Amino acid sequence: MLLIHGTLATQTDLGLIRDGAVALRAGRILWAGAMADLPDALAQDDVTDLQGRLVTPALIDCHTHLVHGGNRAREFEMRLSGASYEDIARAGGGIVSTVTATRAASEDDLLAQALPRLDALIAEGIATLEIKSGYGLDIETELRMLRVARRLAQMRPVRIRTTFLGAHAVPAEYRGRADAYLETVCLPALRAAHAEGLVDAVDGFCEGIAFSPDQIARVFAEARALHLPVKLHAEQLSHLGGTRLAADHGALSADHVEYATETDAQAMARAGTVAVLLPGAFYALRETQAPPVAAFRAHGVPMAVATDLNPGTSPMNSLLLAMNMACTLFRLTPDEALSGVTLHAARALGLDDCGAIAPGLRADLAIWNADHPAELSYRFGFNPLHRRIFGQDA
Ligand code: NIG
Ligand code: FE
Repeated sequence: MLLIHGTLATQTDLGLIRDGAVALRAGRILWAGAMADLPDALAQDDVTDLQGRLVTPALIDCHTHLVHGGNRAREFEMRLSGASYEDIARAGGGIVSTVTATRAASEDDLLAQALPRLDALIAEGIATLEIKSGYGLDIETELRMLRVARRLAQMRPVRIRTTFLGAHAVPAEYRGRADAYLETVCLPALRAAHAEGLVDAVDGFCEGIAFSPDQIARVFAEARALHLPVKLHAEQLSHLGGTRLAADHGALSADHVEYATETDAQAMARAGTVAVLLPGAFYALRETQAPPVAAFRAHGVPMAVATDLNPGTSPMNSLLLAMNMACTLFRLTPDEALSGVTLHAARALGLDDCGAIAPGLRADLAIWNADHPAELSYRFGFNPLHRRIFGQDA
């Protein structure tokens, strides 16, 4: 397949190529560059004229809780009348209420609830996404969530990376006994899920209402023993030192990071840890402390942007909206927002075969009814996707 006369946002040193072409072969990008440089040998019969349309790498949503039971509209109402996210969690609501709904749902129920959410992301040009467990908090339901995530990838043309998030919250039956929960449920669940091939990475929630850095360190030690990469929900509501811990463990990413400091940014830069910015959660919680974007830039910490699609803090089913919010709320440039949902999102998942338009990478592309990359972040509530190309079908 040869795409001609497109504007290519390559995410490589070549930058933006006006009047470019991309050749695809066997699910991979064979060649990308200016039309003027197109090798004769690549001119072939399956040619598509893009008529100037923008081409980007297909989008990557690197942080979602897409598989879950039920919704939390009632909690939304409570927050609007003054209750905080932490108040609700301490009163037994929040994550734990989604746990009740998720435990009650069968594998098929969870699948049926997840599919429309997945389809909405695919319709925005997403080819790779991450899905976390963490609403089971018992061995059986954690495994069920991950099995559903794997099944979704068989039902739709999309690549899914699974993340084990057993250290998301302490379930009601272990209230006040977080260490016992980790020992008897979380770590055995991780080992069982890994044995079944269900885990690509390991995550945790390091926060006053969840787990301390020492407790997360136990989970990370187990991940290391299983040779699994780690990432962490860190510094979302307060500064507990999770970002530093994640960087010290060579984490792929530290996510949220509103309360991270300049020192944390330096540690992340040294470790190559990506800062995953989640403006949907910031917005929904009416948070006022923005992540230290200037420090991330100054120290060269790659920034990704994701939906955090979840029923509590980020019931947002649009990565394009996340890009807009990252610019409006966190002052990312539209170029940074685009790198955040392509190149840097790939890095946050430990993937080096996608996220840019370059020879050898997967032929995962998004073609937009747009002239310039800034248009993707500028509009909101509008989807300009013309066509998505999913590598292995190309
Ligand atoms: O990424 N911060 C913790 N986990 C989710 C929220 C989950 C929930 O409230 O259901 C997040 O924001
Ligand atoms: Fe999250």
